[in-house]
Amino acid sequence: MIFYGADVVTKDGVKKLDIRVKRGKIAAIAPAEEGLAAGRGEQVVDCSLLTAFPGLIDMHVHLRDPGFENKETIETGTMSAVKGGFTQICCMPNTKPVIDNKVVATYIKARAREVGRCKVHPIGAITEGQKGENLSAIGGMKAAGVVALSEDGKTVRNTSLMANAMMYASDFGLKCLCHCEDESLVNGGVVHAGYYSTLTGLKGSIRAAEDIIIAREICLAESLGLPVHICHVSTYSGVQLIREAKARGVQVTAETCPHYFTLTDAAIRDFDPDSKVNPPLREERDRLSVIEGLKDGTIDCIVTDHAPHHADDKNVEYSYAAFGISGLETSFALSYTMLVKGGVLTLGELADKMSAAPARILGLEGGEIAVGMPADLTFADLGEAWTVDPAKFVSKGKNTPFKGRTVTGRVKMTVVDGKIKYREK
Ligand code: DOR
Ligand code: ZN
Ligand code: ZN
Repeated sequence: MIFYGADVVTKDGVKKLDIRVKRGKIAAIAPAEEGLAAGRGEQVVDCSLLTAFPGLIDMHVHLRDPGFENKETIETGTMSAVKGGFTQICCMPNTKPVIDNKVVATYIKARAREVGRCKVHPIGAITEGQKGENLSAIGGMKAAGVVALSEDGKTVRNTSLMANAMMYASDFGLKCLCHCEDESLVNGGVVHAGYYSTLTGLKGSIRAAEDIIIAREICLAESLGLPVHICHVSTYSGVQLIREAKARGVQVTAETCPHYFTLTDAAIRDFDPDSKVNPPLREERDRLSVIEGLKDGTIDCIVTDHAPHHADDKNVEYSYAAFGISGLETSFALSYTMLVKGGVLTLGELADKMSAAPARILGLEGGEIAVGMPADLTFADLGEAWTVDPAKFVSKGKNTPFKGRTVTGRVKMTVVDGKIKYREK
């Protein structure tokens, strides 16, 4: 198959190229002026109005399967992923049962292969049942294909246990991805503590609740000489902690999500439970620092923290609603609109944050359009403006604070291992 004439985002800029795909790999790339001649029986796809990115990779997704199939399943979650342009996703272990053993990890991989949309890499829990007591069976999970360890949704409260986790993880070539939240400080807070928590009367939690654990994980990584990855950074002070740690050579990497560089806590003022997320939306100062962190490389990558919920878990009083935003189908457009159109990143830098960086951090194959690489490609129309309508999501999670927002950049086609897995009708 040949995808011809797209503006291709490569390591050395954007170029009009033809891409030949054979047996799931990129077999040839040539400047569109020269053109690749179609062989007999070779299918040709006109991409001349589209921009091609290396297949997007989301290293932080909640698929809810097994156990919470009313919120999402591996089938609907991966359909949502390819519609959002993602060719590979990593799924967090807060399922039921928890991904804390090889059986659950094996199920997820097998089910993902069966539904056949995008590649799915499970992330194993750090502790058994995410209870924070005993380390889970890391070796077995690694053999079953987990690509990292995380207690996401929670922080491992016991610091010594966390240190052990980092050491064991590294023996198996895995990193810990840390959800940073000091429970005693959060103490039931549901939003950021500031002007809008006061205005609404909703219980707030302060930045330190996140920052203290970011600092702790950095201290552990520094002392032990091991890598650590910080999940969904939302505070200006957390960005600064990571920036300083990187400057002195600590092996720390970090991610953020579109909602942290697009929204502030002003979004909570109408008590819309779809604005409830953990960590919470913060202030303009934080939003601008997150953007600065993306620009200067402090924040390595963009993830969705796709957290689909059933309406029953969201359409309740704010304080009782579940935390989370359904993010797979809006991430690319929000990132393109805010960061590229906003003059923060180039297209190449966006491709790095959404594809190459997650591949580097987790050691996944992908992140580049080059001969010999798996043919994972995301094609988008960067001129198309559209309005977010959750009723059109294929994800079961319709929970988005971006409903009604007009964004630019639309995923038109997603190719995984050389097969078209999504194409807009
Ligand atoms: O908002 C969130 N939702 N944050 C988390 O850490 C967990 C996630 C979920 O699982 O719903
Ligand atoms: Zn989290
Ligand atoms: Zn998460």
